[in-house]
Amino acid sequence: MRPHLVTSLAASSIPRLTNPTSTRTFVTSSSSSALRTLSTRSTTVTTHRAYSSLKKPQEQTTTSNQNIKIPSLASATMSTPINANAVLDLVKARRTYYALNKELVISKERVEEIVKDALAHVPSSFNSQSNRVLVLFGADHDKLWDITAEVLKAIVPADSWQGTAQRIAGFKGGAATVLFFEDQDVIDTFQEKFAIYADKFPIWANQSDAMLQFTVWTALEAEGLGANLQHYNPLIDQRVTAEWKVPESWKLNAQLVIGGRAGEAGPKEFVPIEKIYKSAGN
Ligand SMILES: Cc1cc2nc3c(=O)[nH]c(=O)nc-3n(C[C@H](O)[C@H](O)[C@H](O)COP(=O)(O)O)c2cc1C
Repeated sequence: MRPHLVTSLAASSIPRLTNPTSTRTFVTSSSSSALRTLSTRSTTVTTHRAYSSLKKPQEQTTTSNQNIKIPSLASATMSTPINANAVLDLVKARRTYYALNKELVISKERVEEIVKDALAHVPSSFNSQSNRVLVLFGADHDKLWDITAEVLKAIVPADSWQGTAQRIAGFKGGAATVLFFEDQDVIDTFQEKFAIYADKFPIWANQSDAMLQFTVWTALEAEGLGANLQHYNPLIDQRVTAEWKVPESWKLNAQLVIGGRAGEAGPKEFVPIEKIYKSAGN
């Protein structure tokens, strides 16, 4: 999927979840703010038409203008399960933040710990563990976005370059990038081993990686960071492989840009739940 519409940037109060004590307090704000559009893409027209019946989100009783007590996950065991609302609150709180700065808010080590934990524990088909991750901090993060700009400059028409350059500069303005890959060697091995599912393994690997992306995105934002998900693969694949000596079998799927929040998440609309959900049975 190619990069798509950048929605909004605005200065605002920043939701943070930084206190690593047993009970965490999560404060969000619904203050309105001026919106700034960085660039537009034709795909958004289709999207908006397709979702012409979108309606405003239902009131979120748990995440708007409230302090939310989230129990420590460390205390969750089989005998003392955490309430699902604690998970759902984090799911709802994950948003796309385009306005990022270089303030990591948490330590580099903590970012790595979160990514490693997610990488180890996110499920994969047949426990194949095809997910791979490269995290770029500081100058290496900057380098990634310089490379991306360089690659894009060679193919983007001169008259639309300025918008693209601004967009990439926005990503470079973040503090770090998490690159998500799937290991093609693992997929090949499982295709041989379980030939009956050969056509499914690439799909399942992709799904497992999507679960990982979502987990990392949600977890990092739970600690107060902002993030947005980008897809400059396959354009940058070769340069990434060469620059960071990534194994050839690692296929790049996505780039999660992370950093301090320098603005709010944009407005978000929801398809009416009755259009997208069914149930059956007692
Ligand atoms: C699979 C997937 C691919 C996405 N690709 C991009 C992308 O290439 N560029 C981008 O700016 N945002 C991308 N996004 C972010 C979505 O646009 C965003 O999640 C969506 O509009 C909902 O907003 P929210 O993240 O604030 O909830 C992607 C999200 C998903 C789940």
